[in-house]
Amino acid sequence: MIVKVRFIPNEIIVEAKPGELILDVAQRAGVFIPTGCLMGSCHACEVELENGSPVCSCVNVIPAGSDHLKIYIYSDPIW
Ligand code: FES
Repeated sequence: MIVKVRFIPNEIIVEAKPGELILDVAQRAGVFIPTGCLMGSCHACEVELENGSPVCSCVNVIPAGSDHLKIYIYSDPIW
């Protein structure tokens, strides 16, 4: 199954497979997500899924079960 991932606010759409790291998908799409530890502890890479739950993109994958997913990128100038 292919998941169409839409990054907001960039409005960049990219195809991904369930199980792919969100961070990898973003990098492939040319979407910049700040990173730090790459281990799920610093939350620099946090994004928000369309259900409103914040996830660390370095350790969370594209979920199975839906053929599209919106991912909200925070633009936090601190990072
Ligand atoms: S880079 Fe630190 S939690 Fe993802």
